[in-house]
Amino acid sequence: AEGLHAPSFPFQHLDTFGIFDHASIRRGYQVFREVCSACHSVDFLHWRNLVNVAFTEEEVKAMAAEFEYEAGPDDQGEMFMRPGILSDPLPKPFANEQAARAGNNGAYPPDLSLITKARHNGTNYLFSLLTGYYDPPAGVDIPEGMHFNPYFPGGSIAMAQSLFDGVVEYEDGTPATASQMAKDVTTFLNWASEPELDDRKRMGAKVILIFSILTGLAIYLKRFKFVNLK
Ligand code: HEM
Repeated sequence: AEGLHAPSFPFQHLDTFGIFDHASIRRGYQVFREVCSACHSVDFLHWRNLVNVAFTEEEVKAMAAEFEYEAGPDDQGEMFMRPGILSDPLPKPFANEQAARAGNNGAYPPDLSLITKARHNGTNYLFSLLTGYYDPPAGVDIPEGMHFNPYFPGGSIAMAQSLFDGVVEYEDGTPATASQMAKDVTTFLNWASEPELDDRKRMGAKVILIFSILTGLAIYLKRFKFVNLK
């Protein structure tokens, strides 16, 4: 069975000329880091991608340095580690799919780099999924270890609800309600899927402006300048 179709939520970047809410990307990264990254990777993101999007270069350098990366074997063949730098990928929670399934009762938490593009109506779907945990209606049996969520195709998902009011504390003072965190992490993951969106929207606005002027000019020339040329 298909999942329930997600309604449209007023994400500003889904408007025709709307661009991302960058304060929301910043909060969403925090939600991803403190909640989702326990199980999910974002393979396509490198630390440097966050610079000047939601954090300053100094902030991202400090964030990267909190994680350790393999720097190669030393002369005894032991792996030695070094702190992360801007060119490193964000760390993954599991070494591979097998380890990820072993840690999740056999279910595989997918990589979230492209999730809002990979699912139909992805942005609204993601928000709905994260806020869509309910008690199953009468007559619906959910297998042991699964969770009812009408937005997930089939209605039962291996991922438990992870966003509850107050599971993170925002540095900007925004109240961390479950729906606020869902909005923020959805905005963050949509940015990860479409980092070019802001530039594309700005370019689109310019293209429409310039072509409107050229169209006006073409009409003017056709009607007044070429009028006596048959
Ligand atoms: C599946 C997002 C936290 C474990 C998924 C899916 C998304 C997602 C979009 C895929 C749904 C689909 O295939 O359409 C998130 C976000 C999180 C989060 C944004 C943080 C707010 C977690 C955590 C865990 C987890 C903390 C582990 C404790 C899983 C598993 C699946 C899954 C096992 C596969 C479910 C299945 O196939 O039945 N998650 N997740 N997730 N997630 Fe998460």
